[in-house]
Amino acid sequence: MELHTTKNGEKTLYIPKMDETYHSRNGAISESNHVFIRHGINRINGDIHILEIGLGTGLNALLATQEAKKQNRKIYYHTLEPYPIPHNLLNQLNYGQLLNDKKLFEEIHEASWEISVHLTENFVIYKTQQKLEEVILDFKKYDVVFFDAFAPKKQPELWNKTIFKKLFESLKPNGILTTYSAAGKLKRDLKSVGFELEHPPGANGKREMTVAIKK
Ligand SMILES: C[S@@+](CC[C@H](N)C(=O)[O-])C[C@H]1O[C@@H](n2cnc3c(N)ncnc32)[C@H](O)[C@@H]1O
Repeated sequence: MELHTTKNGEKTLYIPKMDETYHSRNGAISESNHVFIRHGINRINGDIHILEIGLGTGLNALLATQEAKKQNRKIYYHTLEPYPIPHNLLNQLNYGQLLNDKKLFEEIHEASWEISVHLTENFVIYKTQQKLEEVILDFKKYDVVFFDAFAPKKQPELWNKTIFKKLFESLKPNGILTTYSAAGKLKRDLKSVGFELEHPPGANGKREMTVAIKK
């Protein structure tokens, strides 16, 4: 894993073997804000249970804690991460500074695994060091799934009907799955397990993204 700088000077990570970055090369914070806050958290009212696929750098988690505070809503944030990022790389990411919450950014990564940790008055994080394919998820628990896996072509084992059915079942009625991708196979697979789809414009000028709704 290597440090990579996006076009607007933010840091993200790059995996040479996969030729894949953790975020859009045009901007990490703008992408996370658009896909996961605007088209995730902000589409649901009241207290909210989130499932994130891939804690990674913790950027989505940090933005979600800030949103919980801003909107005075409770967020219960369950995040999966089978491959935690080594500390020497985490220390070089600049989201804490850019979002004026360096301490919270560190606390997200320092939080123990496999237990609920109250990070703020409004935000409880539960980090699970397991793969999505293997984890057992509660039925009808979540309001929103942040589907932030590596791209479909790079990680096909996470972008298929079996996985989407599991996520559909873990969502409450009217719950949503949001993701940056709008690939044709993704659309067909999501529909085939029962989701209704919307395709708003994507982040950073991308044509479209996907919001899948469990109607
Ligand atoms: C595109 S990155 C995004 C990470 C994160 N949301 C962020 O903002 O930094 C994808 C993440 O999924 C994780 N991942 C890889 N395989 C996974 C699996 N089988 N189940 C769950 N997460 C996985 C990776 O380690 C990585 O952190």
